[in-house]
Amino acid sequence: APAPKQYVQPPTSPSQHETHRFPIQPLHRFHGASATIKRPREVAHFSYDDNHEYRDDESSINYYVPPPLGADLKEGFDTFRHHEDKEDQHLDSLLQALMEKEQKEGSDKRVKADFVTWRGMMTKILTAPFDHFAEFNMFATLHDSTIYIEEDFPSRFAARAAESSHPPPRSHHPDPQSQSREMMTYWGYKFETLSLIPTPPSSTTPEQIRVHQRAVTSNHAQHCSIVSTSFGPHSLLLGGEVDGLLAPKPANPDEQVQWVELKTTEELPPPQRQQHRDILKFERKLLKFWAQSFLLGVPKVVVGFRSKTGILRGLQTFNTHEIPGMVRRGTGCWDGNVCINFAAGFLGWLKEVVQGEGVYSVVLRRKSGVVEVTRVGDGTGNIVSEEFLAWRRAGD
Ligand code: A3P
Ligand code: MG
Ligand code: MG
Repeated sequence: APAPKQYVQPPTSPSQHETHRFPIQPLHRFHGASATIKRPREVAHFSYDDNHEYRDDESSINYYVPPPLGADLKEGFDTFRHHEDKEDQHLDSLLQALMEKEQKEGSDKRVKADFVTWRGMMTKILTAPFDHFAEFNMFATLHDSTIYIEEDFPSRFAARAAESSHPPPRSHHPDPQSQSREMMTYWGYKFETLSLIPTPPSSTTPEQIRVHQRAVTSNHAQHCSIVSTSFGPHSLLLGGEVDGLLAPKPANPDEQVQWVELKTTEELPPPQRQQHRDILKFERKLLKFWAQSFLLGVPKVVVGFRSKTGILRGLQTFNTHEIPGMVRRGTGCWDGNVCINFAAGFLGWLKEVVQGEGVYSVVLRRKSGVVEVTRVGDGTGNIVSEEFLAWRRAGD
């Protein structure tokens, strides 16, 4: 039998263009009790308003209300206000929020971390061991003892198209049940419109709630939470969108914020007709739901089950921390501890490779199973904004 792939130990000072490889398999390296993780704590936040302009406030926070079952998630598709980034936003708004925080609280309150990135990047890393189609394309740079990681902008759209498990309908023999990719993206946002209102439900009348639920669907406004967390010895600052609150934010910053993540997925067949592959498909989706929510410390995930044609049929609330156990007792198609240990091991390896200045590409090609890191340029390549670099220079 061929010898198992070995963990590649990089030289301490990588020379230009040399490629370092971190194989994902074999996974037995990552079995066992999970690396210690700190509960994520919010250190900063910001909003994007209805025009997707940055705001240093909580103006785009929403509250959860149960959406009406039977609602057609296709409704309003023609008036969807779809925001798609037209240029690379790098880590700018995350860094902006960190600057605003230091400005308000003083630079002695500065939160240090080994890594700063968007939650989405960490979701891809965390799920890579069990996602057979995993791929990513990121850039990393070391600045002032922190590694900043961003997504490669042009590759994002290609990855999203590939991510969609539903190919666009063929024009020759259209299946009356098949839906366009745009429509399938829309109904995730429509589900959010039906489930989120800008004021706490306790101080909102049923009529006001219905008005909010009927509003035009738009993904321009967002609220983003930036948390401090850690994987084993590696500390991270992660920024990501949070969908809504189940209860007003606690005054005490040590208390858990009752965020809720909203997700839509196709309904399962009735129990007597359920097959192993139906459960497998759903539990694979749970990996994404768990990883995304776990990383920001979002304690609950509300899943909206829809029919093939986009009718909302059911709702189920999951406790994020219980999802890995459910899957362990179910198909066992993924293991949360392995994900955590893999991420901790990968981050440790990245720290050894990204030691000098420069821009490093961090690439996992579809089905390749090996993360490749190569120094591809000098400086910080706009990964860290000019404003942030100047702010740090002025503060030191
Ligand atoms: P669903 O997740 O219910 O499909 P999020 O769940 O992360 O808050 O994102 C809200 C919605 O944005 C998603 O709803 C989906 O419609 C759309 N979306 C998010 N990420 C996407 C991606 N990578 N590709 C296509 N659509 C995406
Ligand atoms: Mg969201
Ligand atoms: Mg969501």
